[in-house]
Amino acid sequence: MASKALFWNAVLVAAILSPVAATVAGATQQDPSSTDSSQQTPPKPDAAKQQEEIKKLPPGPGREELVRVCTGCHLLSVVTSQRKSEDGWTDTVVEMRNRGASASDDDMVKIVEYLAKNYGPNSAPAAAAAPASSVKVNVNTAAAAEIAAGLGLPQSQAQAIVDYRAKNGNFKDLAGLKQVPDIDTAKIDAEKDKIEF
Ligand code: HEC
Repeated sequence: MASKALFWNAVLVAAILSPVAATVAGATQQDPSSTDSSQQTPPKPDAAKQQEEIKKLPPGPGREELVRVCTGCHLLSVVTSQRKSEDGWTDTVVEMRNRGASASDDDMVKIVEYLAKNYGPNSAPAAAAAPASSVKVNVNTAAAAEIAAGLGLPQSQAQAIVDYRAKNGNFKDLAGLKQVPDIDTAKIDAEKDKIEF
């Protein structure tokens, strides 16, 4: 622990002496997505979204400190979407303290350990922002409105799909789907990556 404290002092001295760090720390940042009009800089992140992101954090030592220190200025996804080594996270956390994050040396050590463990170079990549599953349409279970919206088909054709499967059973594949009377087969081909059976 004593060596860790010395290490942090050295890092901080280096950061303070570095003209680059000083310039970066002095730069003001605006988050264009924030609607909070309070005069504090930087603007507060969306509280509801932040709560969602806090819930997603894996448990473990350092989580509590991360939530206390790192949620005030930006969404946690800014943090959890990144993958960095322990050195990389150390640089980030020091930079955040220079920007105004209020953390003790002990907090910082714990946060770096937590981040390196859960968001290190070998951690699973961050989930894609928009899950592809949300645009998939299962033509055997979806309601007509979902099929119409998901595949850009007229409501009448979506309804024809639903009627056909009610009469003939589930579709097995694209060829089966194209058997539906009056279906726009070119559109079905164009949207085939979105179609599930
Ligand atoms: C005082 C406000 C503030 C707090 C508290 C804060 N940050 Fe930041 N953070 C910022 C700002 C401003 C940016 C945008 C900087 C930029 O444009 O690169 C940022 C950007 C980031 C980034 C993206 C840029 C990069 O360096 O990879 C990460 C990661 C990050 N912060 C992590 C953290 C962590 C971890 C904590 C908690 C130790 C934290 N932040 C706490 C202000 C803050």
